[in-house]
Amino acid sequence: MTENKKVKNGPVGVVGAGTMGIGIVQVAATAGHTVYVFDKEKQLFERALVNLNSTLNKLTEKGKISSNEAKDIINRILYAENLSEFHECDLVIEAIVEDLSVKQKVFCELEFATKSNCLLASNTSSLSITSIGGACKNASRVLGLHFFNPAPLMPLVEIIPGIETSTENLIKAKEIIAAWKKIPVIARDTPGFIVNRVARPFYGEAIRIYEEGCYGLPEGVEGFATIDRAMRHLGGFRMGPFELMDLIGNDINYKVTETVWSQFYNDPRYKPSLTQKRMVEANRFGRKSGSGYYNYAAGTERPEGLLDDAMAQKILDRILALLINEAVDALYLRIASAEDIDLAMTKGVNYPKGLLKWCDEIGAQNVLNTLNDLSELYQEERYRPSLLLKELASTNKKIFF
Ligand SMILES: NC(=O)c1ccc[n+]([C@@H]2O[C@H](COP(=O)([O-])OP(=O)(O)OC[C@H]3O[C@@H](n4cnc5c(N)ncnc54)[C@H](O)[C@@H]3O)[C@@H](O)[C@H]2O)c1
Repeated sequence: MTENKKVKNGPVGVVGAGTMGIGIVQVAATAGHTVYVFDKEKQLFERALVNLNSTLNKLTEKGKISSNEAKDIINRILYAENLSEFHECDLVIEAIVEDLSVKQKVFCELEFATKSNCLLASNTSSLSITSIGGACKNASRVLGLHFFNPAPLMPLVEIIPGIETSTENLIKAKEIIAAWKKIPVIARDTPGFIVNRVARPFYGEAIRIYEEGCYGLPEGVEGFATIDRAMRHLGGFRMGPFELMDLIGNDINYKVTETVWSQFYNDPRYKPSLTQKRMVEANRFGRKSGSGYYNYAAGTERPEGLLDDAMAQKILDRILALLINEAVDALYLRIASAEDIDLAMTKGVNYPKGLLKWCDEIGAQNVLNTLNDLSELYQEERYRPSLLLKELASTNKKIFF
């Protein structure tokens, strides 16, 4: 066996058997690894394993995997009574509660419990990888591996090196993720990485358009549905902003917005909205709680939303201009390569097209015009165009061709 193969097939450890942890366990065990799982509450692991078993049975019924494969996957998953059972692992992925001090404590323990060349990864959505690594003696093996929910289905994994992560370990991690048939993109350790940063205006600007009743938008559910319809119908997005927030959970979506905003020292571009805060306060989390922007009670019909082409075009142009500006600014600030920024948005949140490619198609000058109009109207930093967008517009250059 070559050294490389050994890395790819060696045992993997997962800390936390919640939504993300068990999804990552499924991915690693399906890729052929023995997976040791530690959760501070063993019964949560046991419950997750029962659910995973029934997921695998469904895959067997659909003919996606054989019943032997399903059995092998389950047999490869072992509960670790404590972290010292991770001593043979080549990679450990942490997917516990989103709390810096709890994660730092676990990483200190992992550093002690594992071999010195074992990669230590966090699935954090919003914490700095460097700050997690900062708690370790040797942060060169600490990095971020950010999976998307549901991990077995979503192809994207953002790989985030912290300041101290070695290039060798970054390459190793990328090879493992590719061997798991996932799409790796590399993101700089900055708030929201790629997806959770670039996607912010999809939600925030949609809410603002709704709040202000722009372009004659009706109030209430009809207004949400009109914006969703415009983004689906004209933009080609699989879901509109309000239905997507309801799917993600308004509690989670609001928390991500608030975290990204505060980590950017309250940059108004990421300012959270009171409308969403009220949703959270009212326990209107979305589908999971039975109501959010929409009502999910059985028998409730959802309005179609208005079909007014002129209004829909204005809604799309405005949200898209802000999204493209974020993507271009992420490129400007070297958060990731142009290819990875576009891959991240198409594979992590199913956008119909990469935003940078979209910029090339629409023309940077047109995107800039929309932002300048909004800036003129509102006189707010929120519509501040990226310096790269201005440069692309003035030089008439494209990003990809
Ligand atoms: N849910 C998502 O959509 C999503 C997407 C990407 C990333 N993330 C990130 O993944 C991580 C996990 O999120 P989740 O939604 O799976 O959470 P979850 O609440 O579903 O699961 C967390 C699990 O970790 C266990 N746990 C907590 N503290 C522990 C400790 N000290 N030691 C061992 N086990 C511990 C809990 O018992 C629980 O089973 C978070 O960092 C989150 O930000 C979540």
